[in-house]
Amino acid sequence: MNSLKWWQTAVFYQIYPRSFADGNGDGIGDFKGIVEKLDYLADLGVDALWLSPHFPSPNWDCGYDISDYCNVAPEYGTLDDFKLFLDESHKRNIRVILDLVLNHTSDEHAWFVESKSSRDNPKADWYVWMDTPPNNWQSCFDGEAWTYVPERDQYYYHYFMKQQPDLNWHNPKVKEAMWDAVRFWLDLGVDGYRLDAIGTIYEDPNLTPHEVPMTMAELRRYSDLASTPEEKELRDKYFYDMFKNQWAQGGLHELMKELRAITDSYDGDRMLVGEDDNIDYMGNGEDELHLVFNFPLMKTERITPEHIHKNQAERLKQLESLHLGNKWPCNTLGNHDCSRIHTRYGDKLHDAELARLHAALVLTMKGTPFLYNGEEIGMTDYMLTDISQVKDTMGSWYYHTIVTEMGVHPEEAMTRTAEMTRDKNRTPMQWSKQPNAGFSPENIATWLPVNSNYADGINVKDQIQSPYSLLNYYKHLLKVRKSTPALIHGEYIPVHSTAKDYFAFLRVTEKQKILVILNFSSERLELDFSNIKDINSQTLQTLFSSADASQKERSTKALTINPFEVFIAEVKPAHA
Ligand code: GLC
Repeated sequence: MNSLKWWQTAVFYQIYPRSFADGNGDGIGDFKGIVEKLDYLADLGVDALWLSPHFPSPNWDCGYDISDYCNVAPEYGTLDDFKLFLDESHKRNIRVILDLVLNHTSDEHAWFVESKSSRDNPKADWYVWMDTPPNNWQSCFDGEAWTYVPERDQYYYHYFMKQQPDLNWHNPKVKEAMWDAVRFWLDLGVDGYRLDAIGTIYEDPNLTPHEVPMTMAELRRYSDLASTPEEKELRDKYFYDMFKNQWAQGGLHELMKELRAITDSYDGDRMLVGEDDNIDYMGNGEDELHLVFNFPLMKTERITPEHIHKNQAERLKQLESLHLGNKWPCNTLGNHDCSRIHTRYGDKLHDAELARLHAALVLTMKGTPFLYNGEEIGMTDYMLTDISQVKDTMGSWYYHTIVTEMGVHPEEAMTRTAEMTRDKNRTPMQWSKQPNAGFSPENIATWLPVNSNYADGINVKDQIQSPYSLLNYYKHLLKVRKSTPALIHGEYIPVHSTAKDYFAFLRVTEKQKILVILNFSSERLELDFSNIKDINSQTLQTLFSSADASQKERSTKALTINPFEVFIAEVKPAHA
């Protein structure tokens, strides 16, 4: 039971550096700010950080367009600031993994600048070049996937924005150069990588066109307007069909194996987690990625007991199919690419209660949890109202396209853009009720507006002081998790799996049996677990209750669970 690796027992916390903490008061997050907040993170109880890209970048895709893989964006600090951050994190027993963007670079990266300069320069085939666009492939961010370069009189391919040209991974020199960058940070002592968009690294060698009767812009617009289940189903099918030849193509397993061999050549159990939900990228369980995300859990409009049971049954079964190694799940409900948990899974009536259930879910299910900065204080989506505020370039591209090419009224276009852009879930972290939420000094224009709800208690400082705040709830749950071995190591056993109102399960080790009940309903429930084999007539010793922790012992037969209660108990013999 104690043989789990650190990345299996850790709780990860994603830092979006631009929005986390502004140490030098220029309106943009930076390493100085992050270092100042490390005590906060240690106190919160997280064990590892995933840092979204911190490299120099022209920021067409908020850092995911990297112009130098071995340096630090000047607005975030210097390499020495990074080293201090890493060192200070490690001193607090907090590990750090970085974001590794393999598929593409920035168009301002020296490799691309050279590659595009002529057809016969030494890096001429470091990217994917064609004399004419060979097909109708789309960029998932901004229209056509092929962009013309006059210097070469050729087109290059980009799955994402045109400022993010795809590298040619068939070229061994590309690999060598990228593996050097990977080693650069591992040599400095980082604990691993989150691998960005790995599915996009290779394309169909036959360049088969897609057959969706729309462009990307039209499909996004269709998606905006889709309201019936049939329309939504068609939308999903179209998205899949549009990109199926640009995604998940041959070659990836070999590539992941090479990368794994590099990380394994370092001491200290460095780890890799893929931005993909396909368990195949874990190889045989020991030779590709350590983890992939359980994205199907979050790909739903509502987190319901039914959805979770189904997800767990499928996911854990898939993991079992790995031949070797650690068949370990990895769960998350939010990140920098999607609507914030509080907004997305709320019902507008019980958002606060639901947020607590969702946190409990991620922190008690089997697997490594990933949290996203700000979720611990209940940050919500922030809807921009003016196109000049939009920083997520896919948002401004969409706005201009639907206004100019489809005649959509600017007001409606702005509403749609505010909903689809990822700016809404990337606003500055709310540290206090000071102006600018204590993120930046008063009167400084922050890079994205601060959500004004910081003044209504959605900020760290107020919540630290309030015993019943969401923040203290997270802290408490993280402590319970840490001090309850079965919540980390235990096998998952669903119970009452047809229940519609609540989600119940056991986490079981040889020495400990934990029952978790999450009541997703506004009803008080009277439950009977006495006929469950692993529970029967034992007692339930409360480890955590969001409703009434004063009741130390509860019966398995007539168990009252309050509306939206999170209940975690140890199942023990009646006389223990
Ligand atoms: C990943 C990142 C996303 C980025 C894209 C292109 O999906 O999470 O933020 O835009 O890759 O790098």
